[in-house]
Amino acid sequence: MTTEELLHWTDDVVFTKTGKRLDSVQTAILEGAWQRLKYEEIARTCHRSKSHVKNIASELWQTISDVLGEDINKMNVRSILERKALSNIYNNNGSQIVGYINSHINICSEKRQDAEDTKERSPFPPDSPQNQSPIIDLTDAPELTSFYDRTSELSTLKQWILQAHTRLITVYGLSGIGKSAIALKLIEQIQTEFDYIIWLSLTNTPTLLSLQTELKQFFGRSPQPPLPTIIDYFRSSRCLVILDDVQNIFSSSQLAGQYLTGYEDYGKFFKQIATSSHQSCLILLSWEKPREITALEALNRPARTLHLKGLGEQAAEIIREKGLADEEKWSDLIAFYQGHPSWLNIIAATIWELFDGSVSLFLADGTDLFLGDLEPLLESHLERLSDSEKKAFYWLASQDDAVDISHAPADSELSRSQLWQAIQSLARRGLVQKMLVGGRSQFQINPVFKEYIQSK
Ligand SMILES: Nc1ncnc2c1ncn2[C@@H]1O[C@H](COP(=O)(O)OP(=O)(O)OP(=O)(O)O)[C@@H](O)[C@H]1O
Ligand SMILES: [Mg+2]
Repeated sequence: MTTEELLHWTDDVVFTKTGKRLDSVQTAILEGAWQRLKYEEIARTCHRSKSHVKNIASELWQTISDVLGEDINKMNVRSILERKALSNIYNNNGSQIVGYINSHINICSEKRQDAEDTKERSPFPPDSPQNQSPIIDLTDAPELTSFYDRTSELSTLKQWILQAHTRLITVYGLSGIGKSAIALKLIEQIQTEFDYIIWLSLTNTPTLLSLQTELKQFFGRSPQPPLPTIIDYFRSSRCLVILDDVQNIFSSSQLAGQYLTGYEDYGKFFKQIATSSHQSCLILLSWEKPREITALEALNRPARTLHLKGLGEQAAEIIREKGLADEEKWSDLIAFYQGHPSWLNIIAATIWELFDGSVSLFLADGTDLFLGDLEPLLESHLERLSDSEKKAFYWLASQDDAVDISHAPADSELSRSQLWQAIQSLARRGLVQKMLVGGRSQFQINPVFKEYIQSK
């Protein structure tokens, strides 16, 4: 949403609950917070003292928190309001809030371009509700705080969904790499192409039956008569379903993407989504790639996988947002921590705690990679590995360079086929990367994990 639309929306919501409109200082505070201005800068724009602006702001955050029932502060205000505005579309189904969202889609030039790019996706009959407002439920979605870049990943996903009509997409990658964030951004950009959008988290490992019941209840909110199966809804309407935290239905201590006992029917469900004819899309967000996806892709079925990696140089925006010093050293910091947004956020906090924000001092020694608070995150990936993966991982960590695995290495405890299978599985978790050296594939372990294993 644009700032103006969000302001209107917030003003209306506050007015409905309190009977009072936002005044000019409150409006300036909201706008300033969204542009990540300091209170001092906001105070200058509205010609008030900093302490006055801080007092008004703290009352404002309290008012909006009471109105929306969530803890609002300067850092999270925009993302929470945007999320609330979007999910209210679902609750209000056709209220004026929808107008704000739709006008946003039409206003932004980037979004106009999206609409033009997606003209191909119009195989719907003239009476299809294509231009109506989608029914959206993002209740299960996490909050989207700041978001930078991902331009090329977003355009790949849009191309797959809107032009190639891909029915099953898996976005996999390490914890905190930004899978949920990119999916939320994607919804913002393509929502008018769908009739229904719902986000469901598998954190509490729902059975397939209870997931399908929840989906049917959501689709059943429309005035149309209820349909017997999810695929029927997927055929009759354009549904976008995002399943988050999918790794929770996979087993630990086994190769990647193997279902927990009692959850194997998810695999059949995913396969059915990919192979049946319909006009909808299911997106899986996971730490690991489900096994059947590789087979479906190999058979040229409409299933695609995106391995989400770090942010690259754009991660500098995260460092800027954290207010760290020594900009000339930021690219080193980004390279060490692979542009991984969560890792950089955590390390930025450490740099403040230990070096008052000085990146140069943090990197002064330049030898060992500091892990600190990253260790529990790294461990949560390692504890999911099977025995053969652990052996292969430790063996890779002991190698100085990337290795060619075409011949069984003499110093590995695994046979050639065990090693291949383990490395394939580690790659499906994004823990091992393949590179071409002199035209030959070589494998190496993620350097941050290598440091972790060597330090243990
Ligand atoms: N593109 C981005 N720009 C800025 N910050 C980002 C971006 N992507 C992610 N982040 C930051 O990283 C944090 C983690 O992102 P997110 O929750 O999307 O990761 P995830 O891959 O879904 O992790 P998990 O698998 O643990 O759910 C976010 O809270 C956000 O602060
Ligand atoms: Mg997530």
